[in-house]
Amino acid sequence: MECVRIEGRAYVGGRFTRVKLGKEGCRTLQFSNDYLILPGMVDLHVHFRDWGLSHKETLTGGAAAALAGGVVAVGDMPNTKPHIRTAELYRKRLEEGSKLPVTYRLHMGVPGDLAELDAAKPGSVKVYPEDVEAYGWGHVEALMRRCAALGCVVVFHCEDPAYFKGPERPPEAELRCVERVRALASLTGAMVHLTHVTLPQTVEASRGWATVDVTPHHLLLDVENCRDPGLCLVNPRLRTPETRKALLAALAAGLVDIYATDHAPHTLAEKQSSNPPPGICSLDVALSLLLALWRRDVITLADVVRLYSHRPARLLGVNTEGTFVVVKLEEFTIRGEEFAGTCKHTPFEGFRAFGRVVATATKGRIYLKGEGVYSL
Ligand code: NCD
Ligand code: ZN
Repeated sequence: MECVRIEGRAYVGGRFTRVKLGKEGCRTLQFSNDYLILPGMVDLHVHFRDWGLSHKETLTGGAAAALAGGVVAVGDMPNTKPHIRTAELYRKRLEEGSKLPVTYRLHMGVPGDLAELDAAKPGSVKVYPEDVEAYGWGHVEALMRRCAALGCVVVFHCEDPAYFKGPERPPEAELRCVERVRALASLTGAMVHLTHVTLPQTVEASRGWATVDVTPHHLLLDVENCRDPGLCLVNPRLRTPETRKALLAALAAGLVDIYATDHAPHTLAEKQSSNPPPGICSLDVALSLLLALWRRDVITLADVVRLYSHRPARLLGVNTEGTFVVVKLEEFTIRGEEFAGTCKHTPFEGFRAFGRVVATATKGRIYLKGEGVYSL
């Protein structure tokens, strides 16, 4: 494989500097100041599906979407078919993920038998509202105790199903879950991460005992500006414009720890059906949506790197050294048909974004968009 070397302007350690990346003797690619080099991004919440759900997305398709979006490491979710609740399935999936061109981590599903945790030693466990329904809060408490002892992070999709009203999932379900988990965290000493939080009150309430992430869709889409019944359906639900803007204000105030997509692919036919499944595709463009907030002065470039690289890398235990992404500092319009993954539809269709990803480098290779793969 031919090797290349990259020269250009990078944002490193909080300042802009010119860098040369790669080995001497390789063909040099010069990037002008219309481009910017950033550390590789890390998305701690994706659904790469595969297994029984490969018509929605595959591990390779998901990895292609990640590389297209400047993402070099992912935290995959366990709600595959079957759901990953045993050490055996956990190891099998990790083994498959380790072959991907991106760094692969997996959040284990809640096991019925907690001894599975001792055998699997996962870095993190993902708790769904469905797990609370199936096993009860008592089991969640026991799981948190075990994780406190083993050092795993307990990642919550925090909505208490007791407050669902039929198909409706009101904000109250999130508020009540956060209260409950806060009490359990102090009781058990478990490390807690609250994923895809939607309310500014949750961000506020998490201080000191949990980390939180927010998604591009809860920051940018709401029940007014996103109305397609299929494409806009997601769990937790999109909120009112007021709530969304308050969440964005919390991000701008530096109160949010992490940005993560919850990239959750379904087929277009499924999303357009009379009973669409929840989930939004955004992995290809999540970095550019975040950079658009920098462009609009809502957040700083330091925030971008902290939210979508440093902090999630720390949570997943991933080293991003030697990884980078090159973006072209221009505005562009999002087109799902240009996505590299299996999923090519998105409620962000037609949205303006900033910072087009032109190259992603990780695991000793660089993926140049429209050109191919080279060694570094
Ligand atoms: C998730 C999925 O499709 O896997 N969907 C979503 O809207 N976030 C599952 C879920 O969280 O219910
Ligand atoms: Zn999810």
